[in-house]
Amino acid sequence: MVSKKMRMRGVAAAVAVLALGLAACSSDSDDTANDDTNATQDSGDGGDSGELIKVGFSQLGAESGWRTANTESVKASLTEENGIDLTFVDAQQKQENQIKALRDFIDQGVDVIAFSPVVQTGWDEVLQEIQDAEIPVVLVDRTVDTTVTDPYATWIGADFKSEGVKAGEWVKENYPDAKIFELQGTLGSGAQVDREAGFDETVGADKILGKASGNFTRAEGKAAMEAALQAYPDMNLLFTHNDDMGLGAIEAIEAAGKVPGKDIVIVSVDGVRDGLQALVDKKFNFVVECNPVFGDQILDAIKKVYAGEDVPKETIVVDATFDQTITQEEVDARPY
Ligand code: AHR
Repeated sequence: MVSKKMRMRGVAAAVAVLALGLAACSSDSDDTANDDTNATQDSGDGGDSGELIKVGFSQLGAESGWRTANTESVKASLTEENGIDLTFVDAQQKQENQIKALRDFIDQGVDVIAFSPVVQTGWDEVLQEIQDAEIPVVLVDRTVDTTVTDPYATWIGADFKSEGVKAGEWVKENYPDAKIFELQGTLGSGAQVDREAGFDETVGADKILGKASGNFTRAEGKAAMEAALQAYPDMNLLFTHNDDMGLGAIEAIEAAGKVPGKDIVIVSVDGVRDGLQALVDKKFNFVVECNPVFGDQILDAIKKVYAGEDVPKETIVVDATFDQTITQEEVDARPY
């Protein structure tokens, strides 16, 4: 979508070119007028001539090490030096805060809106308002489920379902008879819904004793695991939708007198430094990476969308996997 502002800039440039063309016709020897033509055509192109692109970015929160790394990457890329005038708002994992921020961005007349939606549904109204205001949307990390047609220009994030499948394949191969407990992320988020679907379909629903949400945080992961250890004394494998909840679960497992990584095998997603350290310490057994460092790709998408250039509907950030063969040196070299 080319924004209303972009179209107005196009009209203004065309009018200026026409006016200067007429001036040139009226005086063949007027070189100054030709110089002015170049100056006029160069203005207002959103970044190249020094004008900044106004971007409103609604981050969903600061719930995990992954999120902190993602925010740092976004802020490092969306800078004035890179042509961006950034307004960054943290929603503290509350959808109402995100909706308010998005409406504020519309009122402020930003050029592009970028946001990472805390859950998949509940965006219809505000996405329609953004579309009516003709502001292009760059969707970051998580996905939306909406009735609005063509709600965003492009989405950049990980394939959450494939992350769940990779975790499930490792479990199936190494612990085919595992009695599994699953720590879910924020219920209704793309990361929870798709990781769970990929994992459950791969290992088989009959292998899963129970599930509970830890909302992607360490504290809630610990509390959910404490309750699960009471409810499912036979559990011998934990699949956690992120490292932070798994790290909280380690505390609960140790407090219950069990050995994480041995009595209860732990399979996680993210690959932040603390999670990979838990592999070196033999408390985690397998980690599927979800790479949070894609600020430069977001920057590139914003510039293209603003310029009205073609962008792919989706860009998948590539993920690796890690097991206990990872070395301390590799963990120390991890940038987040
Ligand atoms: O949406 C990505 C997920 O959100 C990460 O796996 C998790 O750590 C974060 O909170």
